[in-house]
Amino acid sequence: TRVLVLNGPNLGRLGTREPAVYGRTTYADLVALCERTGAELGLQVDVRQTDHEGELLGWLHEAADAGAPVVLNAAAWTHTSVAVRDACAQLTAPLIEVHITNVHRREEFRHHSYISGVATGVIVGLGVDGYPLALRWIATRTEATV
Ligand code: DQA
Repeated sequence: TRVLVLNGPNLGRLGTREPAVYGRTTYADLVALCERTGAELGLQVDVRQTDHEGELLGWLHEAADAGAPVVLNAAAWTHTSVAVRDACAQLTAPLIEVHITNVHRREEFRHHSYISGVATGVIVGLGVDGYPLALRWIATRTEATV
């Protein structure tokens, strides 16, 4: 099974970006963690990051056409983008929304997610460990159809 792990704006700066909030794990570490987990689980994991909303929309359309599961950290677009939600709504395979931080204990404007209402499940506040957890769940759920 091919899984897309999609990351939105500023996540490419993990490791240097507000380390007190997001930790010291770099984006490269995150990619390696997802790829290692994928290899372990027999998933073909494709990890991407963009600061351009249209690019993310294109990747979501690709996942919809491929019937591929998605792990999505839409970052700030989580709280702003009806377009990202509408693209997510077209997915047919599981969509797991991930946030590194617990958005519910942060600023009020981070408490609402446009994505959660169309996601299969949500993992927040477990740091970058949320990604391998999401991949493990996808692997067990899709075992029968590999
Ligand atoms: C984030 C939380 C968002 O509120 C924020 O805009 C991000 C990262 C997280 O992973 O904790 O960029 O999605």
